[in-house]
Amino acid sequence: MCPCEKFTSETTYKFYEKLKGGVDIVCTDPPFNSGRNYNTFLSESQSQRTAFVDTWTWDDAAQAARREIAQLARESETYAALNDALYGYDYVLQKATSGPLSAMRAYLAFMGPRLVECHRVLHPTGCMYLHCDPTASHYLKSLMDVVFGVANFRNEIVWSYRRWAGKSQKYQSMHDTILFYSKGKDIVWNTPMEPKAGSTPKYKRWNARDPETGKMRTYTDKAVIVNETNMRDVWEIPRLQSRAKERLGYPTQKPRVLYERMIEASSKPGDIVLDPFCGCGTTIDAAETLNRQWIGIDITLLALDPMQKRLRERHGLEPSVDYEIAGYPTNMQEVTLLVRDQKKYHDFANWAVTRIGLEPTADVGDGGFDGIGSVKVWNPRNQKSRNTRVIAEVKSGRTNVSTLRAFCHTLRETKAQIGIFITLTPVSSGMKAMQEEMGTFQHNGVSYPRLQFWQIDDGYFANPASLNETIQLPWRIESRHKSARHFKDEQTELMLKS
Ligand SMILES: C[S@@+](CC[C@H](N)C(=O)[O-])C[C@H]1O[C@@H](n2cnc3c(N)ncnc32)[C@H](O)[C@@H]1O
Repeated sequence: MCPCEKFTSETTYKFYEKLKGGVDIVCTDPPFNSGRNYNTFLSESQSQRTAFVDTWTWDDAAQAARREIAQLARESETYAALNDALYGYDYVLQKATSGPLSAMRAYLAFMGPRLVECHRVLHPTGCMYLHCDPTASHYLKSLMDVVFGVANFRNEIVWSYRRWAGKSQKYQSMHDTILFYSKGKDIVWNTPMEPKAGSTPKYKRWNARDPETGKMRTYTDKAVIVNETNMRDVWEIPRLQSRAKERLGYPTQKPRVLYERMIEASSKPGDIVLDPFCGCGTTIDAAETLNRQWIGIDITLLALDPMQKRLRERHGLEPSVDYEIAGYPTNMQEVTLLVRDQKKYHDFANWAVTRIGLEPTADVGDGGFDGIGSVKVWNPRNQKSRNTRVIAEVKSGRTNVSTLRAFCHTLRETKAQIGIFITLTPVSSGMKAMQEEMGTFQHNGVSYPRLQFWQIDDGYFANPASLNETIQLPWRIESRHKSARHFKDEQTELMLKS
């Protein structure tokens, strides 16, 4: 099961509604309808929980989305045009209700309203860059024509890259398409330049006396002077290699320079950049680098940790201090809301296991577990390091001795050194007795209970670092910053403006 919902119309509209203050540029890379499942945190790729599923079906949600668009079409010209366009596509896609043509119908019903809302929140001088691949770019371009107007189409940018060639009987697919549209006639435009074809870099060189040695020497200006011309719509930018320093392990991460190029050309410092499908935050990293303000949205909580990591490491920004995160539970009331929604259960489990530094696992039903992690710990006695494996199970409902017994069985089967049973309710005395039965894990003269409990409560939210007292591991759990819903800054005010 996938932790993300395909169409969250109610929440999406509410959020876009809050964005009425407007943004200056939208740069976004939505799901492509690629038919792939994306796993994240590749270290245990076979067992990792899916970050999101880019597979679409003509299901109840897709049909509800179409009904909603038809309803909105009565009040809005743009929705009316979108509705007509989708109706036209129904014929192109043979009104299919199963198979690949129906998947495209569902995908377009998902994307259509989001394009309309992106257009609505843009300032009159704003622009949108929509990153797509050849699977759906031709359909999306027509939808963009409908929403933005044919006259506001600026470019179809080809992002050209190299990757391992396949063996199929067709040309190798080695490009993505970025559709560039403006809201109106006048836009912000900082003409981007590139070296003229065939031009070789020239360095300014001169001879002068070195002030320190007094001897003559040749100086070379660092600035490379090249013959430049206005940039073309074909961009040769390498894809992120698996060992690239920039890589965060998020499955669909794009190179930052790609997004820097769009933002630099079509906005000014201080402008607001929106990415409604921001993944691990490439757009927001690019925006921050270029001194723009930013708003990122993503449906999966798994995107939040890599996003925070890059903002901390590259820009020294801390959540709750420098920016706000909305979506992580910040108190028990929000946890209750999250677990009450069946569709959000995985989000909750992901959140819980990542609090203790574990990676979410795939959903394998009962007998499985929700989080895993292993750390090499050094034993000074025998001068050797040893892999210590920790697994965790998250239970949002009632627990009893038999649910715990199943987890203990998994703990033995996986040969994990420590198992953490995460609950929302207190554990019974019978369950506590099982902790004794499971014994201890010895490391460096210290005994760690093999079975441990973490009951999530308000105490945790008040002081996340207290987790190190609740759970005993041979290493320290880094406290994750709690989100500050009520953190006030210009972006929050913008989002709350109605
Ligand atoms: C192609 S990826 C974006 C990758 C991003 N450009 C980066 O470099 O990390 C698309 C993202 O859209 C998110 N997504 C899927 N459905 C969504 C929805 N309904 N609302 C918001 N985000 C969604 C996925 O979780 C995924 O992170």
